[in-house]
Amino acid sequence: MDRVGIDKSYLPRHVAIIMDGNGRWAKARNRPRSFGHRKGVERVKEIVRTSADMGIEVLTLYAFSTENWKRSQEEVRVLMSLLVEYLASEIDELDRQKVRFRSIGDRTALPGKLSGMLTAAEEKTARNTGLCLDVAINYGGRDEICAAARALALDYAAGKISDPGKESFEARLFTYGLPDVDFVIRTSGEERISNFLLYQIAYAELYFTKTLWPDFSSEEYVRAIEDFTRRNRRYGG
Ligand code: FPP
Repeated sequence: MDRVGIDKSYLPRHVAIIMDGNGRWAKARNRPRSFGHRKGVERVKEIVRTSADMGIEVLTLYAFSTENWKRSQEEVRVLMSLLVEYLASEIDELDRQKVRFRSIGDRTALPGKLSGMLTAAEEKTARNTGLCLDVAINYGGRDEICAAARALALDYAAGKISDPGKESFEARLFTYGLPDVDFVIRTSGEERISNFLLYQIAYAELYFTKTLWPDFSSEEYVRAIEDFTRRNRRYGG
């Protein structure tokens, strides 16, 4: 048993969270959407700490999808600056908690400052052995799969690999080296996957809650993980 009382042998190795509902949370309080996103960052800090305490290996958070560019310029700006602020204020604490930080998604379209900070955070924490915190930014599952297929085809055509099979394909995904996703959580009552880790969730258990992300507490997170530990996974067997 760990500090939160869950039997470690049944823990999901990789938890992936679609953090939804920041806008509705703010609207219900007559506040701008940015207020909800800011509150959402506080939840991120808490859920990262709880994941590390529980002994989860990998936590992937969907912070910005390839479709999120369709939001207003102002909202995109707020989300990008919240990510910059998060890294600036948290990286030392994450490092102290032995968190290994990484990020997935197409970095080329991100503001230069954010992209540089992501690389610096990855380098600083690369040798840490605790929780792997994986943040998806400008990420889309279909884009990832198409890019991996293209890279595989090009490498095969160039004679760089002899077997264009499953292993070579997986080695070209952003998540190479990480375990498959065991558990997907989505907040805010929406029950869909929205282009998140399409390849990696093949056998994942799904958990949907009506709670909006800014209200998603550690206690509810632990209850969700407990729910996972009771599920009977058969992988088609
Ligand atoms: C979905 O809520 C939330 C997002 C698109 C952004 C998630 C980002 C954060 C929580 C902050 C930054 C993250 C990190 C890792 C520091 P929504 O805006 O779609 O809500 P709505 O559906 O109620 O409008």
